[in-house]
Amino acid sequence: MLAVAILAAGKGTRMKSQLPKVLHQLAGKTLVERTIESCQQVSPDRIFVIIGYKGEQVKEALSHWRGLEFVEQKEQLGTGHAIQQLIPYLGDFEGDLLVLNGDVPLLRQETVARLVKTHQENKNQATLLTAMVPNPEGYGRVFCGENNLVKQIIEDKDCNPQQRENNRINAGVYCFRWQALRGVLPRLSNTNKQQEYYLTEVFDYLERVMAVDVGDYQEIIGINNRCHLAVAHEILQKRIRERWMMAGVTMINPESIIIDDTVQLGTDVILEPGTHLRGKTIIGNNCRIGPNCYISDSRLGENVTVLYSVITETEVGDNTRVGPYAHLRGGVIIGEACRIGNFVEIKKSTIGRKTNVAHLSYIGDATLGEEVNVGAGTITANYDGIKKHPTVIGSRSKTGANSVLVAPVKVGEDVTIAAGSVITEDVPNDCLAIARERQKIIPGWRPKGGDR
Ligand code: UD1
Ligand code: MG
Repeated sequence: MLAVAILAAGKGTRMKSQLPKVLHQLAGKTLVERTIESCQQVSPDRIFVIIGYKGEQVKEALSHWRGLEFVEQKEQLGTGHAIQQLIPYLGDFEGDLLVLNGDVPLLRQETVARLVKTHQENKNQATLLTAMVPNPEGYGRVFCGENNLVKQIIEDKDCNPQQRENNRINAGVYCFRWQALRGVLPRLSNTNKQQEYYLTEVFDYLERVMAVDVGDYQEIIGINNRCHLAVAHEILQKRIRERWMMAGVTMINPESIIIDDTVQLGTDVILEPGTHLRGKTIIGNNCRIGPNCYISDSRLGENVTVLYSVITETEVGDNTRVGPYAHLRGGVIIGEACRIGNFVEIKKSTIGRKTNVAHLSYIGDATLGEEVNVGAGTITANYDGIKKHPTVIGSRSKTGANSVLVAPVKVGEDVTIAAGSVITEDVPNDCLAIARERQKIIPGWRPKGGDR
């Protein structure tokens, strides 16, 4: 039996933030979610999340996770005090307890599995992850004897200068025999520099504690301030980019490309410099994105090209070209082989296949049929100052340059709208609609008192 406890009650004072530390994001997921994910492979029987500072907010952010049990630590008196809160919940539990600090977001599932395996095979009372790091500042130092058996952990602030030289650090990830841990938890004191009940003090009392060294120290970076967050972001982006490049995605100047963990990419996708892919974005095979695009929570079909554009909550069909300088947002569906062009904004609209909105338009709350041609500068006037209204344009219709469609309005199929028209009434199928003042010529006219 294996239970997991994630420590997520701390404020994260060093983050200087209104947000609890564990809710800060890295590539589309919060620190605490990443920590929970890292113990998926070991299939825990129970997962406890210890919450305290803005606990309701942490709970809310994790509401989509199934099977989490939240334990409140009312006052945050230290990591040892946090684990003491589990005593009423775990009681006589006969299994192991895996403890993870909620601010260690880059741990690999395999590493956690290796920790648990080593712990169980060696019948240890406790086993913990350690790493040799170039700069151990801020971390607890781990002092080992023979065979990786741990003698003591001393927190950075409590180290003397010589102890501080030790660069073997505690990752904040431990596996305990619960009954052994439970026996020593009441012995914790807070007579240290931070006046906290340290979980690491239990190693003064437990026997047979083994350290498992992580080869890649970057995995166990703990996030205590925004500089650490930036370092973790860089490491994670490198991992994500490499994973996609190995899966058949070309990246030009990869360092300038940012991809959330939640994004899916097809093969032979080309990402140009300055491309940002966020949220639940899915990009089909053979798409070419960038330079300089921001795409979030959107789905692009195959062979789509997007240049210098911002796309959110949008679906784009195969073979469509978007940009330069398009902004598609808030529930847009674009069909196949469309051309969505230069300086075009489309909001909450459906655009049929082979329809072009090529230049300088605003299309909002509209439904456009197939093979429509929206002339340069066409605007849907969808807002009357109080409410938004719909516009419909039937298949094969064309709007002339600089037309305004004052919604609610319905334009039929096979219609031509003359340039500069202001369409305020519905237009039937198969006709020409002109809605503008006729041009007048006044022969011989000149301004009063003016010369010819
Ligand atoms: C801790 C370890 C240190 C280790 C480092 C690894 C202790 C005493 N020190 O230090 O040895 O090298 O992590 O990153 O454990 N938390 C609570 N309740 C509390 C206090 C903290 O839930 O009362 C949570 C925090 O939200 C955080 C985690 O515990 O997720 C670690 O706390 P933090 O203050 O970051 O400990 P470190 O100083 O980093
Ligand atoms: Mg920390």
